[in-house]
Amino acid sequence: MIGNFTYCNPTKLYFGKDALNGLNEELPKYGKNVLLVYGGGSVKKNGIYDKVLAALKANGKTVFEDGGVMPNPTSEKLKEGIARARAAKADLILAVGGGSVCDYAKAVSVSVNCDDDAWDKYFIRFDDVTCDIVPVGCVLTMVGTGSEMNGGSVITNREQKLKIGHVFGENVFPKFSILNPEYTFTLPKYQMISGIYDIMSHILEQYFSGTDDNTSDYIMEGLLRSLIHSANIAVQNPKDYEARSNIMWIATWALNTLVAKGKTTDWEVHMLGQAVGAHTDATHGMTLSAVSMPYYRYILPYGTAKFARYAVNVWDVAPSDKSEKQIAEEGLLAMENWMKKIGLVMNITDLGATADMLDGIVDSTRIMTGGYKTLDKNDIRAVLRASY
Ligand code: NZQ
Ligand code: ZN
Repeated sequence: MIGNFTYCNPTKLYFGKDALNGLNEELPKYGKNVLLVYGGGSVKKNGIYDKVLAALKANGKTVFEDGGVMPNPTSEKLKEGIARARAAKADLILAVGGGSVCDYAKAVSVSVNCDDDAWDKYFIRFDDVTCDIVPVGCVLTMVGTGSEMNGGSVITNREQKLKIGHVFGENVFPKFSILNPEYTFTLPKYQMISGIYDIMSHILEQYFSGTDDNTSDYIMEGLLRSLIHSANIAVQNPKDYEARSNIMWIATWALNTLVAKGKTTDWEVHMLGQAVGAHTDATHGMTLSAVSMPYYRYILPYGTAKFARYAVNVWDVAPSDKSEKQIAEEGLLAMENWMKKIGLVMNITDLGATADMLDGIVDSTRIMTGGYKTLDKNDIRAVLRASY
């Protein structure tokens, strides 16, 4: 562990079949006006909305609603949410949904008491938060992003064709999150698998950086092994509670800042995926799976030792007398075969990317410097070409 860091995670989690009871402990801590934020309607169909509303009423809250948060929430919708939160004089924003709803709630929370345009301030200029924050709580219904225990908030500006994440500080993390694995049972399989790959990608973005002996890497190898094991079960039987609960817990630990400690971290796969998402509005996890193999094969020569370690410790490639490069390549092949087996999208064409979008996607891709190779725009173009 050669990096310097501080560590604090202020989010209180309630996990398991009875997790929603946690609302009765948390709600009394806040004032009476609650802005209830949710997505396109899944929570009404599966009954989660009714349960949350009942808990809010039982705790004497006045409820204001902000529904219709779309996957990949937009800067336009964010303006609407800020206006609703102001009108409600919200004391608490309760997000009920997946990463999109939770991210959006955080973006509203840091903007309610601020006069600037939220998109420009936080997603273009990356300003710090200087105004009072409205606290956020989360009832999670889709597993993958880790938004339930981090400060991430990703917003899409459709007009500018940009999808950008701002990682806010501890004060913006949800104050509490309710994690009931059964709430994820109604997810369409496509979303479940997309979330599984989002988790894998979060871990790999942090794992594929640095050459020091770092405890975080050992934790991540354990998380990855557990994820692959539980994903194989969940794909066969999505209602397997044990597998789904493990996946939910891994998702939280994959991106709640712990395993990033002491690491430079990469995040180029996410920059590529977000650029594809900005042009296609495709499902987040699938944009990552579609660009991953071309990216990892492109950077393998610059981080061969770590890719070989990954092959052996995560994919059980036998080292025997092979070269480090051969071992590394076998690991990526095992990963690719597994991705295909569980049904991930393996190219951006299948997500709606067309040849005439290539230049725009290249332009929309941010370049990161924490991984094994800092790409330039020509490299980005080559990776994207191989992703078609
Ligand atoms: O809108 P509704 O009707 O609720 O349907 C949603 C949505 O269509 C549906 N869904 C959610 N829970 C369900 C359900 N359907 C049935 N049963 C349930 N229990 O699933 C669809 C996808 O939901 P969404 O919230 O968009 O998915 P996800 O959790 O993957 O969030 C994606 C967003 O998070 C951002 C992504 O970029 C994207 O904008 N990310 C946030 C991160 C963070 N905060 O740290 C990091 C990630 O890398 C990611 O970038
Ligand atoms: Zn992600």
